[in-house]
Amino acid sequence: MPIPATFAGKLTLPVIASPMFIVSYPELVLAQCKAGIVGTFPSLNARQPGQLDEWLGRMTADLADYAAANPAQPVAPFGVNLIVHKSNTRLREDVELVVKHKVPLIITSVGAPTGIVEAVHSYGGLVFHDVTNIRHAKKALSVGVDGLILVAAGAGGHAGTLSPFALLSEVREFFDGPLVLAGAMSSGRSVRAAEVMGADFAYIGTRFIATAEANANEAYKQMLIDGAASDIVYTPMFSGIPGNYLGPSIAANGIDPTAISGGQADPNLSIEDWSKKKAWKDIWSAGQGIGTIHDAPSVADLVARMKAEYRDAATTPSTFL
Ligand SMILES: Cc1cc2nc3c(=O)[nH]c(=O)nc-3n(C[C@H](O)[C@H](O)[C@H](O)COP(=O)(O)O)c2cc1C
Repeated sequence: MPIPATFAGKLTLPVIASPMFIVSYPELVLAQCKAGIVGTFPSLNARQPGQLDEWLGRMTADLADYAAANPAQPVAPFGVNLIVHKSNTRLREDVELVVKHKVPLIITSVGAPTGIVEAVHSYGGLVFHDVTNIRHAKKALSVGVDGLILVAAGAGGHAGTLSPFALLSEVREFFDGPLVLAGAMSSGRSVRAAEVMGADFAYIGTRFIATAEANANEAYKQMLIDGAASDIVYTPMFSGIPGNYLGPSIAANGIDPTAISGGQADPNLSIEDWSKKKAWKDIWSAGQGIGTIHDAPSVADLVARMKAEYRDAATTPSTFL
């Protein structure tokens, strides 16, 4: 399975830490890259393009300095997530900035990345596109993306409904490039399992909300520690696209979580509408993998733990081999 050449030797684990609105800021992303996993953030976490420009310059320099000072340590590249949706009025400016700073990995989500692939390839960057179904996977490949992120059932944020086994195996039948599997992974054992299933990378978000460096308040982190898969509510109500949210945070905002599960997406809602409904900020998103989150360590400690779990999983003997 292909690991892109630009990542070779720079990773501790085959993990891309997923971009999370409001949660993934430079502090978290830098800690992830320094721990040897690809750190990413949504460009919209920067309040305006000027701030994004400053972040990209600072992060690129910081990682280069860190790699030079620690030559024996894998230091991962970072990525930026671009929301390709008509209501993202900043898209053109943000594309210009990722080109200016030669951001190694661009993750596109929500709409097809037509027009972005060429700009990113012009400086040798990679585009991975986020999909939940086969139709969108084929469409993204037709516009030349380098890899696909397969968001299976149970993932934090906007999630699909397909089993990871079904989604991954079906895409592998027509694509042999980099595949990233997403959804409810919280341990190194799950990372290893994703590889065995045929993925090149695991894409992990929710587990990193409960870390010291994440931009999430203590109550959010504690809700992840206290919660279990049964607390996760799948609904399109807060953003127009079906996603997974923490039931107790919905209840804390005066809405009965049991009354809103399921239903149809409303494609007419804009990003502004989403934020009016307090999604992400007050109504917190999380995937189904929270039942095994018991603490909020530093990113370095969490990645070291995942590495040990990954190694254990890889060396567990099977009676059937
Ligand atoms: C709080 C939160 C915010 C998210 N924001 C974004 C985002 O801005 N852009 C995006 O492409 N995905 C976003 N996602 C989805 C993640 O990129 C990813 O698909 C997901 O975290 C993987 O599943 P997991 O959380 O179960 O590990 C978000 C997820 C969470 C939990």
